[in-house]
Amino acid sequence: MSNIPSSPWPDSTLALLSDGYEFISKRCRRYDSDLFETRLLLQKVICMQGEAAAQLFYDNDRFQRQGAMPQRVIKTLLGQGGVQGLDGEAHRRRKQMFMSLMTPEGIQDIAALTAEHWCAAIMTWENRDTVVFFEAVNDILCRASCQWAGVPLPESHVQQLTKDLVAMVEAPAALGLRHWQGRLARNRAERWLAQGVDDVRARVCPALETSAAHVMAWQRDQDGELLDRKVIAVELLNIIRPIVAIGRFIVFMALALHEYPRYRQMLQAGSEEELTWFVQEVRRFYPFFPAVAAVVKQEFVWQGYRFPQGRWVLLDLYGTDHDPRLWEQPEAFQPERFRSWKGSAFDFIPQGGGNHHQHHRCAGEWITIELMKVALRALTQEMEYAVPSQDLRFSLSQVPALPKSRFIIGNVRAKPRAS
Ligand code: HEM
Repeated sequence: MSNIPSSPWPDSTLALLSDGYEFISKRCRRYDSDLFETRLLLQKVICMQGEAAAQLFYDNDRFQRQGAMPQRVIKTLLGQGGVQGLDGEAHRRRKQMFMSLMTPEGIQDIAALTAEHWCAAIMTWENRDTVVFFEAVNDILCRASCQWAGVPLPESHVQQLTKDLVAMVEAPAALGLRHWQGRLARNRAERWLAQGVDDVRARVCPALETSAAHVMAWQRDQDGELLDRKVIAVELLNIIRPIVAIGRFIVFMALALHEYPRYRQMLQAGSEEELTWFVQEVRRFYPFFPAVAAVVKQEFVWQGYRFPQGRWVLLDLYGTDHDPRLWEQPEAFQPERFRSWKGSAFDFIPQGGGNHHQHHRCAGEWITIELMKVALRALTQEMEYAVPSQDLRFSLSQVPALPKSRFIIGNVRAKPRAS
């Protein structure tokens, strides 16, 4: 049996904060290994990257999710009692509830709703000198996600909810005030949504039968009991929050169009396939979720290394998407690479790996791709805009990453629609 290469430092939390997305891959390179051991938040952890490691990580017999997430992530990003922390039959049932919403018709509905909101927004942007694209896109996605999920959203509430949803995503890695704003945001949103669940159940405010609000309000657990209203609030947030989070990928997509303008012309008359390759390369190339976490269920040996029971394990998503063994010139932005991508469940994992139904892989991956395509069509086929001089840099040590200026656009003009 070999020893897992291990960091000489007693704790690497500060290094994690400064290396951010590159924390795991830098050390894997240093130790010339796909895995290494260290301590984070004073807890022993095995960090791993690459396709074989991803395949191992998604083995439900070897890993569990219960106990894998630090409280600072649960209290902000994820919430208590949600699908992310479930295992076995409880996870299978809850995941089925999410996947029942991801039908081709459901995805088409949210794409159509979002396209309408884009259209309305572009018209309002025409009257403004400049638009902070990140904020404007989040507004579109917040409206569309609530409408699709069957959650009535008064106009007076849009701005606060959008801010709260962004705060939840930014809080896990933040220190001080920004972290506490994320906790406050989650509490506020959960209280509001739990009240909405009561309204659906009391039929004061019935939701469309196919909507998330309806499906979740009447979902039963293994014992035949309706889910707790607070858990439903958490799960509704697991729909609305990540749909708004797609705004980050959309900002990076706008950045890619700006920095690699040769693709713009191709996309103006682009086929579905070409739009998809561009979207996929944005999801591979730009940083979003750095890693996912699990806990070893029972001791096992893998490639000669011992994984003790209870050990915390992190899988590097960003590093695997930039692994030079899997991606030729990983630091080059090349949508064409997806022309020949084989579609492995473990090499391209910006939203987790494995199977959407059986594993913890992101339930909203197909929606993400579709809504990014809606945005890409808007950016290349439905509007013209200028990108004034601004600070577009982003840092790989800031999690989640975003261009500093949040992407400002100006001189927006709707393009006449081809009929
Ligand atoms: C899980 C990323 C969009 C719903 C995840 C995971 C990641 C992720 C990394 C964890 C995978 C794992 O634990 O193995 C993202 C990114 C998104 C996105 C980067 C784009 C912004 C969405 C959308 C939805 C969604 C649009 C819903 C409409 C979920 C749910 C889970 C999840 C419910 C938990 C799945 C489970 O535990 O079984 N996502 N996601 N996500 N995502 Fe997403």
